[in-house]
Amino acid sequence: MKKIVVLISGNGANLQAIIDACQAGDIQAEIVSVISNNANAYGLTRAKTAKIPTALFERKSYANNVEMDEAIAAHIEQLGADLIVLAGYMKILSSAFTAHFSGKILNIHPSLLPKYKGLNTYQQALDAGETEHGTSVHFVNAELDSGAVILQAKVPIFPEDEISDIEQRVKAQEIQIYPLVIKWFIDGRLTEMNGKAYLDGKLLPPNGYA
Ligand code: GAR
Repeated sequence: MKKIVVLISGNGANLQAIIDACQAGDIQAEIVSVISNNANAYGLTRAKTAKIPTALFERKSYANNVEMDEAIAAHIEQLGADLIVLAGYMKILSSAFTAHFSGKILNIHPSLLPKYKGLNTYQQALDAGETEHGTSVHFVNAELDSGAVILQAKVPIFPEDEISDIEQRVKAQEIQIYPLVIKWFIDGRLTEMNGKAYLDGKLLPPNGYA
């Protein structure tokens, strides 16, 4: 059985979808650790309910970001994880970490990358007068939200929308597409080479699978 670790900072709706997909056998893997940088993350409760081990790495316990990421990396190495899933992990990983696990880290980001990297993507999209928004699953490299895109989902933005309306729509898509991409990876169908994503050996287009 392949091994997954999931990194979270908050609510964990994506984590829950991944737990459910593993329990249902849709993803043929075991989540061996849910790692959080936030002791109050509700995702930790979700993990405990599912009897998944949890690990807390708080920034205040380390001299700097690099040391914190080294501790997380050692934990992941010890577990022998095949895949590292970032699911609302709101801390930027050091370049040493992303290089060490190159091709084995996935992230989900609430925008149609390459648009709106970083924080407050919903506000950014509204400010820009967009009529659509969405979410992207991508490989993680050293540059924030810039790794190869694997799969995106689009949602409409209506004129009367508030951020919470769009967020709700995006999140409904995220819990569909993230488990699917993780399944592709675990089934050995999805790989990264030289910064590009391949599904079944075929190069994925810049916006991911279409
Ligand atoms: C998700 O919407 C995810 O796209 C976003 O955080 C949310 C976490 O929700 N990630 C980022 O913004 C990363 N830059 P969840 O904790 O309920 O899964």
